[in-house]
Amino acid sequence: MNITNEMINEIRNKNDIVDVISKYIPLTQRGKNYFGVCPFHDDHSPSMSVSREKQIFTCFSCGATGNVFTFVANYEHIGFYDAVRLLGSRVGYDLGSAKITKNKNAKYYEIYDLVTKLYQNSLSTAQGKNALEYLDDRQIDKKTIKKFKIGLSSSKISITDYLVEKGYDLKTLIDLGITNDNGSDVFVNRIMFPLYDLEGNVVAFSGRIYNTKDPSKYVNTKETAIFKKGTILYNYHNAKELLKKNESVIVMEGFMDVIRADSVGITNCIATMGTALTKQNANLLKKMANNIILCFDGDKAGLEATIKAIEIFKELDVSPKIVRLPEDLDPDEYILKYGKEKFKYEIDNPESSIEFLMDLHKQNKNLSDIGDISKYINESLVDLLIVEDEVLVNLTLRKMSDEYKVDYDVLKKKYEDLKNKNKKEVTVTNSSEKKKLSQIDIASKELLAYMLNDENVLQDVEESVTFFPNDTIRLLANEMIYYYHKYGNLNVADFISYIASNEDELNLLNELMTMKVNNENKEEAVNDYIKVINSYPIKRKMNEINKEIMNETDPIKQANILKESMALRGVNNDRRD
Ligand code: CTP
Ligand code: MN
Repeated sequence: MNITNEMINEIRNKNDIVDVISKYIPLTQRGKNYFGVCPFHDDHSPSMSVSREKQIFTCFSCGATGNVFTFVANYEHIGFYDAVRLLGSRVGYDLGSAKITKNKNAKYYEIYDLVTKLYQNSLSTAQGKNALEYLDDRQIDKKTIKKFKIGLSSSKISITDYLVEKGYDLKTLIDLGITNDNGSDVFVNRIMFPLYDLEGNVVAFSGRIYNTKDPSKYVNTKETAIFKKGTILYNYHNAKELLKKNESVIVMEGFMDVIRADSVGITNCIATMGTALTKQNANLLKKMANNIILCFDGDKAGLEATIKAIEIFKELDVSPKIVRLPEDLDPDEYILKYGKEKFKYEIDNPESSIEFLMDLHKQNKNLSDIGDISKYINESLVDLLIVEDEVLVNLTLRKMSDEYKVDYDVLKKKYEDLKNKNKKEVTVTNSSEKKKLSQIDIASKELLAYMLNDENVLQDVEESVTFFPNDTIRLLANEMIYYYHKYGNLNVADFISYIASNEDELNLLNELMTMKVNNENKEEAVNDYIKVINSYPIKRKMNEINKEIMNETDPIKQANILKESMALRGVNNDRRD
């Protein structure tokens, strides 16, 4: 069933937020609002306020905020649309178990869902015999095959022909990476592993050889409208709902590793699938669990991937724990060889990033040679800079001092010097350009916070702001303006539902909702913000143009550039008054 935005709003209207939240946590009325102990952080006093008037909740302590759907989704650890379904069923809407979505990609998900079923079906027919034997040899049981929806792409029947006969458009199938340009199936005679997006929709496949000799062990679906490699993490949709606060997530390289771990009951694993961990992946994982454990393959490639991932996490101020497996084994092979208990022991006793890095520096060094010792200590001190825990820093320095007979005070001083130097470097790289941009981002956010509360500001922005430099801010501002025109208002509780499937925009909206807007001197403030924002692209462009004019010798070209510059100046003047 296709669920429209209007339906979502109807369901929201029939589920008063105060009634719903008070079923989960006790609320007491104080003035217009209701207050309760926030379930989203370790709260001891009632920090969460619920507004019947606005139909939103906000925690003043941890900043959690949203509408009735996001409350239920976060509380129950379910997705947004599952929360819609749940609350819908309580007020007499049967939305079924089909994917509820306003998303334009719904049709694509439907096709992938169908293809997944066809592949699953092929595996259980006579021609799936060899493939099942292969899976059985690898000790992948029926339950696991079912859970991860493993299937088989036939070597006899064309899935493309079948789908076209059913009325699906050939071009769509090609765009979705199911069919080749010449009309043949992309996957032939491979064991098919569905790849899921963060919500659990099948959006691609990885097909593995099993009884043929083919140079490519795995073939993956190309990037499509619904499959973007750097954004997905295998098994994220299963693991995220399991993870309560303070649990850990184990990051592996291959989906076979995750499937193996799951089959022995270790369910909090996800996989990057052979590509390097992206910053976006790291951000998701950071939000997902307090404790991140990297358990990559035991070989050299796995070692390198571990070092890279630590670097990525460092940018987010996260220090993951590390498990290195022996004998070049991957987690799948380790579990098969040494058993679940031994693997669990490894996972329960990981190294800290700093221990791992220091061990790494020891390699290829002769630690009875003073030159090498000095090198080792200096490299380790640099790594130590990422450790926030002062006790751990001190213990590490003491240990180094004892082990290599270097005066503790000398190490301490060197560490402090590096730390100061590091601080300075950070401020130096904060060049004026960067400062300017962050100033604009602050102004942009303030402005958007005003837009949420005042339709006049929204119209001002629509008329006067040329360009928000930050992507998420720009997209959210556009959505707000679009929504306002479409529905004639900007009801925040409904607007949350509207953008709920875009995580970045939702996070930004949450941030805006918890910002305090000052209603004194509002007009002046709004005008100032608009000026700051509009100064950015134009000034930068003018600088570029000035440089161009200086370097240009052809007078005609010079004149053209000058014209462009004047046009820009005109825009600039217009905006100023
Ligand atoms: N991969 C890929 N293409 C390849 C090899 C690997 O896309 N030719 C990706 C797959 O997503 C795989 C991951 O990289 O899950 C890790 O690769 P690898 O360690 O080689 O695979 P294993 O997990 O060991 O798979 P298997 O045990 O089936 O060989
Ligand atoms: Mn393997």
